[in-house]
Amino acid sequence: MPPQVFRLILLTVAIVGSYVIARQLLTPPSFRQYGFYRGEALAEHASHTPVFAGRKACLECHEDIQKKLFKDAHKTIGCETCHGPSSAHCADPDSAAKKPDKKNTTACLRCHEANPSRPVTQKQINVKNHYSSQKCAECHMPHQPNEVP
Ligand code: HEC
Ligand code: HEC
Ligand code: HEC
Ligand code: HEC
Repeated sequence: MPPQVFRLILLTVAIVGSYVIARQLLTPPSFRQYGFYRGEALAEHASHTPVFAGRKACLECHEDIQKKLFKDAHKTIGCETCHGPSSAHCADPDSAAKKPDKKNTTACLRCHEANPSRPVTQKQINVKNHYSSQKCAECHMPHQPNEVP
């Protein structure tokens, strides 16, 4: 066998061999326990405390607001889309520190700031030209956006 070929074979064996060894060392033990992922990841995710409570959880104490919301253009939006994760508030509604966020301008702009990639049916504003210095809730009722305050 010519020496070049022998060296090539040696090189191939070294590359493939180091790949196989590295794979053995780096693959976590619970990989493929259930599927193409780490089996331990399931328990890790389940151990997180949920931060979102879901719209149904707010009903118990804020049914009036839900009724308003359902009548108007924002009816498909979840409470926590604007107010942020609120499960801590549900568990302890009297705690001032756990009150959901009422600062809203950024939440509004996430959906309403003019952006050419949005469908034209989505009402959009150009913030700089739209009474920029004030909070949206001074002129719009967030739970009933079609009404005029
Ligand atoms: C167990 C009853 C209860 C549940 C459930 C509850 N809340 Fe409240 N919420 C309250 C009380 C009480 C207040 C305080 C009212 C006040 O200060 O006038 C409050 C106040 C608020 C405020 C106003 C905060 C502020 O700064 O004034 C927001 C916003 C709010 N809740 C959103 C939510 C959302 C969103 C949910 C569902 C994820 C929810 N709440 C679930 C009882 C509840
Ligand atoms: C489109 C965004 C948006 C959605 C959706 C929304 N809120 Fe609000 N909410 C606001 C804003 C903004 C304020 C603050 C209004 C203000 O400062 O006058 C507010 C105020 C409140 C308050 C304080 C009392 C009041 O009437 O001002 C409560 C309680 C509340 N929201 C609960 C809810 C609940 C419960 C839901 C779901 C059923 C919900 N919100 C859905 C934006 C929203
Ligand atoms: C999750 C996305 C989302 C958020 C956040 C949101 N909106 Fe909306 N908004 C909508 C949708 C969807 C409609 C109904 C479709 C439409 O007419 O554009 C709507 C409709 C409106 C309208 C009625 C427009 C009209 O004349 O028909 C106003 C005003 C409005 N929103 C203001 C606000 C304000 C103020 C906030 C913040 C408190 C806010 N929106 C937060 C999605 C959103
Ligand atoms: C000083 C009062 C005022 C403030 C503050 C204000 N708006 Fe408006 N907004 C209006 C009026 C009036 C209209 C309807 C006429 C117009 O388009 O100017 C309107 C219309 C809209 C529309 C519908 C646009 C359309 O194409 O029909 C949206 C969406 C909207 N506003 C969102 C917001 C958001 C989000 C904020 C906060 C960043 C905000 N507005 C702050 C007064 C205000």
